[in-house]
Amino acid sequence: MITLHDIPALRAQLADWRRTGQRIGLVPTMGNLHAGHIALVRAALSRANRVVTTVFVNPLQFGPGEDLDAYPRTLAEDARRLKEAGNHCLFVPAESELYPRGRDGHTCVEVPGLSAELCGASRPGHFRGVTTVVAKLFNVVQPDVAVFGQKDYQQLMLIRRMAADLDCPVEVVGEPTVREPDGLAMSSRNGYLTADERARAPALHRVLVEAAEAIGAGRELARTEQRAMAALAEAGMRPDYLSVRRQSDLGHPGPRDGALVILAAAHLGRARLIDNLECSRPTGP
Ligand code: PAF
Repeated sequence: MITLHDIPALRAQLADWRRTGQRIGLVPTMGNLHAGHIALVRAALSRANRVVTTVFVNPLQFGPGEDLDAYPRTLAEDARRLKEAGNHCLFVPAESELYPRGRDGHTCVEVPGLSAELCGASRPGHFRGVTTVVAKLFNVVQPDVAVFGQKDYQQLMLIRRMAADLDCPVEVVGEPTVREPDGLAMSSRNGYLTADERARAPALHRVLVEAAEAIGAGRELARTEQRAMAALAEAGMRPDYLSVRRQSDLGHPGPRDGALVILAAAHLGRARLIDNLECSRPTGP
């Protein structure tokens, strides 16, 4: 595996690979890699001949007072895991490489509407930061395929929209969430949980499973949302939102929409956990 830090060196490597007809895969990450990230790398390896994984803690997607400085940086261990997984190139740009003019005043890419809902409502500007850095990485790497986790369901939807709206010639692939044995979705932020909080954290997934069952049984959506929010609070969390949306575009479901997804975010100690679960409901003839 080669590790590169600047865009010209990465472009030269990519040009070499392209000359010999290699298909390029991209896995953007913020590092502190866990089994969920490695599953993304494996998915990219199954769809491309050469895989570039990026590690960049993108300051543009953190709001004031969020955990930009505390975000775990574990580059040596990340590199070890990536090499072991068969990743070909690790790209670790400095902030000045991606934002040479600084954080403010940089050209941004923003998907209207959905960027301000759900996680975007409590993290203003977050998705603008995500779609901006992903658009840049798409331009730098020009991958044939890029792989993201479905754990960040709204993020994946926004990246698909951004790529479609800007005619990015890349296939965006979403990979299933990897969970701990007790159901907790793997996340770099799980490391913020104390032992007691870690023991309570699987409640988020459990509540989603119960809500999906209720919806499948035909229970009313608004009432299911209310009950699930109450269940999160009972489990000792501070729920941010829990919302049942249409799978296709994350819009509010109408009576004929049967393919749904429940999305939730909840604070537990220092961590803000997110998770989601696709579900379906009977829509009649
Ligand atoms: O999901 C993440 O880790 C980040 O939001 C991403 C897609 C790497 C952009 O910084």
